[in-house]
Amino acid sequence: MRVLVTGGAGFIGSAFLRLALSERWFDSLVNLDKLTYAGNLENLAAVEHDAAYQFVQGDICDASIVNRLLEEQRPEAIVHFAAESHVDRSILGPGAFFETNLRGTFTLLEAARSAGVLRFVHVSTDEVYGSIDAPAEADEAFPLRPSSPYSASKAGSDLLALSYFNTYRLPVIVTRASNNYGPYQFPEKLIPLMISNALENNTLPIYGDGMQVRDWLFVEDHCRAIQAVLERGDEGEIYNIGGSRSLPNREVVERILARLGKPKSLMQTVSDRPGHDRRYALTSDKIEQATGWRAVVAFEDGIALTIDWYQKNQAWTRRVKTGEYQSYYARNYSGR
Ligand code: NAD
Ligand code: TYD
Repeated sequence: MRVLVTGGAGFIGSAFLRLALSERWFDSLVNLDKLTYAGNLENLAAVEHDAAYQFVQGDICDASIVNRLLEEQRPEAIVHFAAESHVDRSILGPGAFFETNLRGTFTLLEAARSAGVLRFVHVSTDEVYGSIDAPAEADEAFPLRPSSPYSASKAGSDLLALSYFNTYRLPVIVTRASNNYGPYQFPEKLIPLMISNALENNTLPIYGDGMQVRDWLFVEDHCRAIQAVLERGDEGEIYNIGGSRSLPNREVVERILARLGKPKSLMQTVSDRPGHDRRYALTSDKIEQATGWRAVVAFEDGIALTIDWYQKNQAWTRRVKTGEYQSYYARNYSGR
């Protein structure tokens, strides 16, 4: 199978490419990525010379690039990761979220429709369900109540993608994963930000009371779930992809500090995120029954591996934290 991946230079897309190429899941993989602040070709150094892999720099909102690529490459499947992905950035500036997540997805769907691709996996998030009161868990029929510009743009793109199945029979599958963590995650998200600040003995900003709950999914478990639905999922369906553990943020951060031998006094309460979702929770029964996939990496193992990776790869973190990151950090955290 020839596969086009969008956003393959980011955190999850690069994990998918590294895994797919090392385990020879497909005949060839083309990666279309704009290389925004979150895209980093260093994440793909291990595969850049693989004959089955090709990188193309380009914007998914640019119909001429996307159409030409589909004509030239004739991919049988598209795995669509490319997105603006961070809630805090969507609060500071929602415009790019509308452009890439909605208009970019629309451009890609249109191109896929005219090229006649055989599978289109639209990679989405459990955040489209919004905050969920305990003890409920969202299944795929749960109402969509996105709270942030990020999650609203993802919910909109999910609906658009599904409409292409209903209307044009484009073979779309939507996946909705919980919070991912693992190596190469940009240090704007909770886990890599806390590890990297702790390694530098900087304060760890805890939003509000820090008792918000997230369901943590190791990134390779997520990639294997996407491969499972690509092979064995049904067209027009939505699949939730949950992790192995629900934890309040404070507990996650305390575990990080304990493993690094750093004091809890580094944690600093800061003002809460506007519209902050209190709890995400979902059930993955459907994908488990349909494909046999299951999250296999226990949080204890995944977080240990992740912390160790950041400890060993501080040069990577230093490089991605230069320039734009500094101004983002100041905009999001100063005076909070
Ligand atoms: P990321 O921010 O690390 O990477 C996004 C990638 O997309 C980058 O390489 C960036 O350069 C590229 N990109 C952005 N705009 C583009 C455009 N207009 N054209 C082409 N490329 C563009 O994101 P991630 O964490 O790897 O997330 C990947 C996907 O998974 C997203 O769709 C996200 O909504 C979804 N998701 C993420 C999580 C999570 O916890 N990170 C959980 C569930 C779902
Ligand atoms: P994040 O990694 O941004 O993922 P999401 O908001 O998409 O779930 O944040 C995870 C949780 O951590 C969320 O409840 C917000 C909280 N958080 C902090 O308390 N401090 C921070 O500096 C960040 C980035 C997040």
